[in-house]
Amino acid sequence: MLSPVPVVLVSCGGTAEWQANIITIAWVGSVCSDPPMLSISVRAERHSYEIIKATGEFVVNVPSQELTKITDWCGMVSGRKVDKFKESGLTPGAALKVGCPIIQECPINIECQVRQTLALGTHTMFVAEVVGVQVTAALIDTKGKLRLDQAGLIAYGLGHYFPLGPAIDHFGFSIRKRKPKPRPGKLANRPRRSRKTG
Ligand SMILES: Cc1cc2nc3c(=O)[nH]c(=O)nc-3n(C[C@H](O)[C@H](O)[C@H](O)COP(=O)(O)O)c2cc1C
Repeated sequence: MLSPVPVVLVSCGGTAEWQANIITIAWVGSVCSDPPMLSISVRAERHSYEIIKATGEFVVNVPSQELTKITDWCGMVSGRKVDKFKESGLTPGAALKVGCPIIQECPINIECQVRQTLALGTHTMFVAEVVGVQVTAALIDTKGKLRLDQAGLIAYGLGHYFPLGPAIDHFGFSIRKRKPKPRPGKLANRPRRSRKTG
């Protein structure tokens, strides 16, 4: 019932032993600011589970809405049977710090190295440190600020994909101090109109 959540394309593999693969993941979350860490939870029967367990690396690629169909598809077929990069037409690109490829069509690519593996039950949680981030230049404004509002990201909840809408307000807006209105006393030196003369 914790929804919506982000839905991401996790790329992994790309070594001599493991062909590059992509898995759609909804159980993903930020878990630590310093060092920057995130987690993904993967079922042991997934092909990607074997790859990530063996290599200790993966990339969280954040898709935009044009990639919704491909995002769903990558969660329907297994890399054991299908070369998902080849069949989807997604382009593997060089990561900065890890051996597996990024997905170039995704505007945000977060490169991760596994630090802890927690077998929780149906899913195993990989807790990983973020060692590199790439963001498409189109999302950086002239002041160098990341414009996530323009990324057209997808949310996933209760079996459906949703577009993200415009921002409501920003972090801390509830306690933002407004500029005080000028008090009447401040205008005391101004010549006042006489009521009589209007
Ligand atoms: C929207 C969506 C979210 C998913 N989230 C997860 C998830 O968080 N963890 C998981 O193990 N599988 C998840 N899956 C299922 C896998 O993506 C799916 O079983 C995939 O085919 C596994 O690919 P692989 O065998 O190549 O690793 C999700 C699928 C979809 C469509």
